Amino acid sequence: MTHDISYPPLNTPKPVAEDVWIVDAAPIEAGGLPLPIRMTVLRLASGDLLLHSPVPHHPGLQRALEALGRIGHLVAPSIGHWMFLAGWQAACPNAITWAVPGLEDRRPVRRAGIRIDGELGNTPPRAWAGAIDTVLVAGPVFREVCLFHRPSGTLVLTDLVVNLEADLLPPGPRALARLLGIVAPDGRAPLYLRLLLSLNRAEAARAAQRLVDLAPDRVVFAHGQWFARDATSELRRALAWLLGQEASAERPLGQSRPGITPWIAGAVLASAVAALAYARRRR
Ligand SMILES: [Fe+2]
Repeated sequence: MTHDISYPPLNTPKPVAEDVWIVDAAPIEAGGLPLPIRMTVLRLASGDLLLHSPVPHHPGLQRALEALGRIGHLVAPSIGHWMFLAGWQAACPNAITWAVPGLEDRRPVRRAGIRIDGELGNTPPRAWAGAIDTVLVAGPVFREVCLFHRPSGTLVLTDLVVNLEADLLPPGPRALARLLGIVAPDGRAPLYLRLLLSLNRAEAARAAQRLVDLAPDRVVFAHGQWFARDATSELRRALAWLLGQEASAERPLGQSRPGITPWIAGAVLASAVAALAYARRRR
């Protein structure tokens, strides 16, 4: 058993499809949980690279990327994924920075001196049109823009699916990950995000259906074991809570974790409400 929850080799582009690479980086800690982080790199027809959810900037990583193309676009795809933008903006001043709606208004983002050039919604920027579709999934506070790279059939998510491997987590964080519902092979959005999105269920469910209808060949996301095989069915399973297909999409009994008990759900709900209040205070 190991407690190294990263996916080596780190800080180097690894091809997963034509014009698609992932870059895994050292874990960060979020609320007591070690979280592996992953950037996805897409190369557009122009030859420009798009860095989705950038990991920390390293000169060696930048050189390796520039061997693949010019770094033309930086994407902060969710409310929580902007922390490493500053280093890339300094190193690539001509790159355009795109962000999920509302990120620019957040006080920590302004304090960090992050420049946002454009917001992403359900219509992709002209420079990406024809190659990348965008789907906005939104609830109170939480927003994520999902990217679908048409030429490779790759769907790129951020926090909408988290799929951590239990064996790689220390016991305490493992229990927390199970509580949040983010343990492979049954990873989903963390419980607090599910609660937030449930407050905008109809619209979020339509967005989730759009994602499934894209029928991706692979689904890459920022934290954990991504879906390299059976991607569309794995995605449908991970979004079943939102699509209203929970009963039919769950794994057979015995392969799935038992449901959390009501008192735990209540405690987590209280935590989510507190987190929501905290996030609002920080805006
Ligand atoms: Fe995240």
